[in-house]
Amino acid sequence: MSIAWDEALAVGDPIIDSDHRRMIELIAELEAAGRAEIDCAGIGRTLLALTDLCREHFAREEALQRAVGFPETEAHRTAHHMLLKRLEAVLAHYGDGCDEVRAGIVRTLGDSLATWLVSHIVNNDMEFKPYVAMAGQGA
Ligand SMILES: [Fe+2]
Repeated sequence: MSIAWDEALAVGDPIIDSDHRRMIELIAELEAAGRAEIDCAGIGRTLLALTDLCREHFAREEALQRAVGFPETEAHRTAHHMLLKRLEAVLAHYGDGCDEVRAGIVRTLGDSLATWLVSHIVNNDMEFKPYVAMAGQGA
């Protein structure tokens, strides 16, 4: 799946939307990694940047959800936690060294992450969009 930012993915909070935009860029980089020539160091850097960003972003997003009174914060937090564990496992595995097989795993991961992220934003993150809008109106 090729992935790109679209304004329809915006939840209305500039920091969260900027995080999502950067996550999409990094996932697109992972998907493209190794297609022509495998860049092991580049894949490692992107994987690390994505894992760090997800960890920071999920904490930011969960804090925002609590601040705006979103009632599904716990279930949402569980979905974030599962993805982060998966990313950390791939990062640890990749850290053993780069070869064609590992590069292939990262490309496949990029593809499944793209599907997961778009589905998560569209189906789950959009659920707190109205709460962000209400908080913005001082409600
Ligand atoms: Fe989320």
